[in-house]
Amino acid sequence: MAILKIARLGHPVLKRRAEEVDNPSAPEIASLVEDMVDTMIDSGGVGLAAPQVHVSKQLVIFHVPLARTVDERYKDAGLDEDEGKVPLTVMINPVIEPLGEDKAVAFEGCLSIPDMTGAVSRHTHIRYRYTDLEGRLVEGEAKGFHARVIQHECDHLEGVLYPQRIEDMTTFGFSEEIRKYALGRDDTEEDE
Ligand code: NI
Repeated sequence: MAILKIARLGHPVLKRRAEEVDNPSAPEIASLVEDMVDTMIDSGGVGLAAPQVHVSKQLVIFHVPLARTVDERYKDAGLDEDEGKVPLTVMINPVIEPLGEDKAVAFEGCLSIPDMTGAVSRHTHIRYRYTDLEGRLVEGEAKGFHARVIQHECDHLEGVLYPQRIEDMTTFGFSEEIRKYALGRDDTEEDE
């Protein structure tokens, strides 16, 4: 078990496009994923991209252990009750594309930008394709919060952090203040 140091906003590794993983089933990739899982769980995040642990490779992990209750910030994420949990997923060399035009705005946070949050517009329905740790090609669709997490993590692989996606910068701020002054008003108002 190893908990890795997380790169924070401003570090160049977060700004560049990550490199493709040549051999997804290589032992060093499995070992990187183990350490990333330890790091994600230790920090209480729902997702982590390899560049966030200073490894510029096309690899992300995520899970949604408790759906709605995982973090106050995600309460506006448009979760359906039946979306529930998303198991731990490891995506190597992922490719995503939107399905339809629908977008939703919800607050996001990022382990590379501690204690802050902002409202980000994301596609509500996407298609994804990636290689897993056994080297198999996996394809599927995701909606709602699941789709949001994938888009956030895959943005990291392009050197994009969520503040760059915020349309209304007045929604960007410290989580504590946003919870107190913005989210306190109406639980669903950011949902479209
Ligand atoms: Ni992030």
